Amino acid sequence: MHAGALIEALVGFALVGAAQAGLFPSELIQLTESDIGNFSALAFSDPSRVLAGSSAPQCRAWPGSGDWPSDGEWRQLNTSLGGALLRPVPVASACYKGENYDAARCRYLVQQAGRTHFWIEDPLVVLTQWPQGSTCVAALNAQGNCTRGGFPEYVVNATTVKHVQAAVNFARNKNIRLVIKNTGHDFGGRSTGAGSLSIWVHKLKEFEFIANYTTNGYSGMAVRVGAGIESFELFNYMAQHKITVVSPGGSTVGVVGGWLAAGGHGSLTSKFGLGSDQVLSINVVTAGGKFLTVGPESSGGVEEELWWALRGGGPSTFGVMTSVVLRAFPPISVLSVPVGFSVNPTGATNQAAPFPGFPDFNFTMPANSTFPNFTFPFPTNESDAFPFPNITFPFPTNGSFPGFNGTFPGIPFGGPSAGSSLTNVATFWKGVRLVYRYCSKVLDAGGYCYSFIYPLGNSSFTFSNSAFLPDISSADATALMAPLFGSLGAAGINISAPRLPERAAAPYAAGRRNGGGDSPVNTRYHSRLLPRRNWDDDALYEATWDAIQHGIEEGGYTFHGIAYAPTAKVAGPIGADSAVNPAWRSAALHASYMETQPAGAITALDQRERDAKAKRYLDQWRAVTPGAGAYINEGDPAEPDWQNSFYGEANYGRLLGIKKKTDPWGVFWAQTTVGSEGWEVKTWDGYPFSQNGRLCRV
Ligand SMILES: *[C@@H]1O[C@H](CO)[C@@H](O)[C@H](O)[C@H]1NC(C)=O
Ligand SMILES: *[C@@H]1O[C@H](CO)[C@@H](O)[C@H](O)[C@H]1NC(C)=O
Ligand SMILES: *[C@@H]1O[C@H](CO)[C@@H](O)[C@H](O)[C@H]1NC(C)=O
Ligand SMILES: *[C@@H]1O[C@H](CO)[C@@H](O)[C@H](O)[C@H]1NC(C)=O
Ligand SMILES: *[C@@H]1O[C@H](CO)[C@@H](O)[C@H](O)[C@H]1NC(C)=O
Ligand SMILES: *[C@@H]1O[C@H](CO)[C@@H](O)[C@H](O)[C@H]1NC(C)=O
Ligand SMILES: *[C@@H]1O[C@H](CO)[C@@H](O)[C@H](O)[C@H]1NC(C)=O
Ligand SMILES: *[C@@H]1O[C@H](CO)[C@@H](O)[C@H](O)[C@H]1NC(C)=O
Ligand SMILES: *[C@@H]1O[C@H](CO)[C@@H](O)[C@H](O)[C@H]1NC(C)=O
Ligand SMILES: *[C@@H]1O[C@H](CO)[C@@H](O)[C@H](O)[C@H]1NC(C)=O
Ligand SMILES: *[C@@H]1O[C@H](CO)[C@@H](O)[C@H](O)[C@H]1NC(C)=O
Ligand SMILES: *[C@@H]1O[C@H](CO)[C@@H](O)[C@H](O)[C@H]1NC(C)=O
Repeated sequence: MHAGALIEALVGFALVGAAQAGLFPSELIQLTESDIGNFSALAFSDPSRVLAGSSAPQCRAWPGSGDWPSDGEWRQLNTSLGGALLRPVPVASACYKGENYDAARCRYLVQQAGRTHFWIEDPLVVLTQWPQGSTCVAALNAQGNCTRGGFPEYVVNATTVKHVQAAVNFARNKNIRLVIKNTGHDFGGRSTGAGSLSIWVHKLKEFEFIANYTTNGYSGMAVRVGAGIESFELFNYMAQHKITVVSPGGSTVGVVGGWLAAGGHGSLTSKFGLGSDQVLSINVVTAGGKFLTVGPESSGGVEEELWWALRGGGPSTFGVMTSVVLRAFPPISVLSVPVGFSVNPTGATNQAAPFPGFPDFNFTMPANSTFPNFTFPFPTNESDAFPFPNITFPFPTNGSFPGFNGTFPGIPFGGPSAGSSLTNVATFWKGVRLVYRYCSKVLDAGGYCYSFIYPLGNSSFTFSNSAFLPDISSADATALMAPLFGSLGAAGINISAPRLPERAAAPYAAGRRNGGGDSPVNTRYHSRLLPRRNWDDDALYEATWDAIQHGIEEGGYTFHGIAYAPTAKVAGPIGADSAVNPAWRSAALHASYMETQPAGAITALDQRERDAKAKRYLDQWRAVTPGAGAYINEGDPAEPDWQNSFYGEANYGRLLGIKKKTDPWGVFWAQTTVGSEGWEVKTWDGYPFSQNGRLCRV
């Protein structure tokens, strides 16, 4: 072999090696001993060398405390990071008296920012306000002072693996609370924390389509997705490469990280499984600062355990994912069949209630529908492609949409169908039970149901559901759903089945998306994964709905139900052998009561009473679903017995063992994650589960 060929072979090998190792350019830049030099705060640690029972501080360091790093050390960290250390000022300080006051900026935040991608791009903001302590909420005429509250002290704007490693090592070595954030979509207060260093993975935006990815147990199309990629970006890539990937329903929800680490559901979950079931490889920075690739070929040792735990075993617990490889499928078209009705005993027409945005599909308008009354902050860019740029609700109730005759991209619908306003409450609930029961047929067809029940007071309610059916002809979908409309008619609810389009569109076909339309909110979820067995037994099914109805009728909760069936079979052999809560595998409905409150309007005491009330109603669900669980990401931080509920009795012990072995320091800590019971946040005001306080050992 002559020299040229040898060099070529070496270069070829190097390229193949890099491709097989599967690293993005950002992942090739890693922390080295020479980066660390004499700055021991950046040193790696080996978890196996931590002595059991070694003395550790009672609390994490706190600004002003003796062990808080000096300004010089923070500067040195910043230098090591190449200047990527941020100390952001809360943006809403523009609304408060003081040096940052800026009336125009504040007006923008309150009136315009939510129509754009603004809040998602902020290094501090989390989209559920209460965990931060609501100490600096954007509001016109804001009272009091803006304080940092539960926002992190410092943020690492991570654009390389080296940044992530340096942040993890610094936090671990200096006893600093660490949090990880991408978009801030989180109902549980896990991506913010007072006195913390935050790793902001949002700018890790790399993507790669892999036409043929082969690993143990899989050979086929795949995508490699960076930790900062949002669902709408993945949809755009799907369109570009003519593929389908299971992706979050919310357009700006991150694909990697918290979503799939907790399972993660999406529109094709009954067909292809949960987000975590798609994973073929994970690049991750561990608590010791090491950068690892784990996958089905990991056998033995910590790699194999992390590979199992990272898929479903909970967010912010075992490592910082920098990218993952996910299964990809050929394009799949989806048809939606909406049904909805409302009841008002006085005979008046109900004000229909809001739908959240849900960008997955290029929906097709059913004939003769009416729509809810809501304001939807369409991001400016998406509204360009939207048929009604300044949409006003309610739509005309006569079923005719002026100037509109096509598909309706971007939001779900299925509000009350024409002629479906009832006066008899018993008939309403009978119809509701018929629709949910019928969702088991939708699940069997690989589809899902997406639904809301809104209590409107005075025994008035509005119900809407859309059944989404993948990979099915219009005629078959119509035939599949026809018996439901028949039985609704027999129950006294005369709704004609919607006309379905002749050809369904692939989920990504709704045109190029830009993301946006998010503002911070204040929702608490109280939820449970209701098992299929409650659907398969008449008496148990009725008992389940008696329990659900109580919280809506007496408790006044909005009910949100998503019917999914990510069974072990659907997950496939790789997905099925993961740490996902086993409750998902036998689920028929991810059911929630949603509690929303105006920012800052609820005192700690009130919230404790609200939590107690929710527990009373959820206990009725628990009574009819023994052994079932709940979905961490849309769960209640106050969930009793959360270890078994969120992770499953079969898994929690093993997960806790892996946590202790890989992170004996507890450097990754977030509420209701594995091992978090050893620590608690000492909040300032006692507001339950807020992150506005110092993190200390229990
Ligand atoms: C650490 O190394 C830097 C250069 O990398 C040097 O400027 C500094 O003086 C060293 N500090 C100590 C305490 O040795
Ligand atoms: C980190 O360094 C960069 C570049 O010098 C600077 O712009 C930034 O303000 C520094 N961050 C902090 C927290 O001081
Ligand atoms: C706000 O800050 C100012 C200046 O520090 C202080 O005088 C005032 O008491 C604070 N107001 C409240 C409501 O805490
Ligand atoms: C984060 O880093 C990226 C890449 O260097 C840069 O473009 C961006 O402006 C930074 N963000 C902030 C808030 O500094
Ligand atoms: C994909 O790669 C595997 C392993 O290299 C090979 O056996 C298979 O034929 C390839 N499939 C396609 C469609 O190219
Ligand atoms: C829609 O409503 C119109 C007028 O009420 C009626 O003539 C038509 O049959 C309805 N279409 C469907 C599909 O129900
Ligand atoms: C619903 O829309 C109507 C007509 O635009 C409006 O008068 C009413 O106030 C709205 N209701 C709510 C709850 O926003
Ligand atoms: C929609 O509203 C925006 C902002 O109020 C306005 O600039 C725009 O002209 C409106 N578009 C239409 C089509 O009415
Ligand atoms: C439906 O109502 C709207 C106003 O709400 C009106 O403009 C339209 O002409 C009506 N269409 C029919 C078919 O009656
Ligand atoms: C509306 O759709 C019908 C049937 O698809 C078509 O015949 C008609 O031309 C369309 N009207 C407009 C204004 O696009
Ligand atoms: C929605 O899907 C239809 C049918 O596939 C397609 O013709 C139309 O362009 C799509 N609409 C948008 C806004 O992409
Ligand atoms: C919206 O569109 C404008 C012009 O088409 C573009 O400059 C801007 O970057 C877009 N904004 C977002 C958030 O995508």
